[in-house]
Amino acid sequence: MISVAIDGPSGAGKSTMAKRLAAELGYTYVDTGAMYRAIGLYAVRHGVDPKDQPGVEALLPEIHLDITMEEGTQHIFLNGEDVSAAIRAEEIGMAASGVAANPAVRAFLLETQRALARSRDVLMDGRDIGTVVLPDATVKIFLTASAGARADRRYRELKEKGAAVEYAGVLADIERRDEQDSTRAAAPLRQAPDAVRIDTSDLDFEQSFRLLKQTIQQRI
Ligand code: DC
Repeated sequence: MISVAIDGPSGAGKSTMAKRLAAELGYTYVDTGAMYRAIGLYAVRHGVDPKDQPGVEALLPEIHLDITMEEGTQHIFLNGEDVSAAIRAEEIGMAASGVAANPAVRAFLLETQRALARSRDVLMDGRDIGTVVLPDATVKIFLTASAGARADRRYRELKEKGAAVEYAGVLADIERRDEQDSTRAAAPLRQAPDAVRIDTSDLDFEQSFRLLKQTIQQRI
């Protein structure tokens, strides 16, 4: 089985590029962030602070996640409900980052993630795929961009959707999430020593995509 691990901070374009590349290569795209988001959503819905580690751990036995692939698109079901759209709210991104610092949550998701990579060729995106989940991945990529470049892109995306946002707020959110994801004790966001670093700060989407595709194709 071939596995491609793509890690990096929020907003570096991982999921958009990984999804498209997986379709072109005929691999299954696995979005591990969606799993943390589903747990974050469950905590918020139950009035539990995502950062309350014992509180969230106590919820885990009530949580059942199912992942399905429909025409190459991942759907995630939380106790039978398709929450693929609900988990995309900004607030749930922050909740996901909160629950992701919890070692019990990480342990809860690890086997699901590894099992997916055992059964098919995958392109898996997350924060700790190359370091923890798939240390023997065929190819490891660390896809990153400066916080400013990521905030620019996110700001434009939100504006296009008609959201009333301010650039400073978007940048602050990105910086807060980076800080939270990279300073936690459990599987922090960091580049694996054998990962190829791709910095897209000065590249547009098509240029970034071509570089990513080329880098991976040279190694599989
Ligand atoms: O990629 P994303 O924005 O959907 O991820 C949501 C949060 O989940 C992010 O703040 C960090 C966390 N996450 C993680 O800790 N490990 C992963 N493999 C994937 C996501």
